[in-house]
Amino acid sequence: MAIITFAQIKGGSGKTTLAKCLVAEFVARGLPIAALDLDPNRPLGRFFAQIPELRDVEVAVPGGDQRVSALVRDLAARHDNVVIDLMGAATNDTQVALALSDLVVVPSQMGEDDFRGGIETWRQVEEAELVARRPIARAVLMVRTSASAVRPRVESFVREAYENAGAEVLAASFGDRTVWREMSYAKWVPVLHDRDSHAAQNVAAIFDELMALLARSEASAAA
Ligand SMILES: Nc1ncnc2c1ncn2[C@@H]1O[C@H](COP(=O)(O)OP(=O)(O)OP(=O)(O)O)[C@@H](O)[C@H]1O
Ligand SMILES: [Mg+2]
Repeated sequence: MAIITFAQIKGGSGKTTLAKCLVAEFVARGLPIAALDLDPNRPLGRFFAQIPELRDVEVAVPGGDQRVSALVRDLAARHDNVVIDLMGAATNDTQVALALSDLVVVPSQMGEDDFRGGIETWRQVEEAELVARRPIARAVLMVRTSASAVRPRVESFVREAYENAGAEVLAASFGDRTVWREMSYAKWVPVLHDRDSHAAQNVAAIFDELMALLARSEASAAA
């Protein structure tokens, strides 16, 4: 069972887009999945409702007097995998969600604000781990990187800066593609509708690397 959370206090870094893609990848692979939407705009349920293959994915949203901790526990009790999309700011609810996560992915574009937000988010995950007193796997994911074969210098700089600050960066990155910006309008999800496309293969590579990270973290926790 895995609770996978997308967290980055810098807004607009790609959390929601990646949460949509990861849920679609679980569905495409026939694996159980549910989602918790803590983005105040509540984009996940709206998006899933428009895509026939995703219509049945359960999306929990906070409301009434239900605590976020209760929502996460309830979803995790009924679904093997849960994806959580956080808002682009640190709140009490985001700290609770982090502390209950098995894996936290910190999306980061190349700008300095994303880098600073990414490091601050990384520190929050480290704190959540101390509070939870159990390992929380984590990785930075570079977002809107060039889809060309040659890695631009700026991406190398940002990767190095993260690593110098003690944050691990996934080898796979989430390439800049129009198809992700159009997804809500076109209702065309490469992950579901064109598995051979570069876009879908990109998400599959990210998925595989995240699952390997989770497996390593579980193995070291058991040892
Ligand atoms: N790989 C990508 N290629 C192209 N556009 C992207 C990519 N990832 C995200 N975007 C675009 O960037 C914008 C911000 O992405 P998104 O909403 O996923 O960020 P977020 O971190 O959830 O933002 P917020 O903090 O406001 O919740 C959106 O318009 C989205 O379509
Ligand atoms: Mg969002």
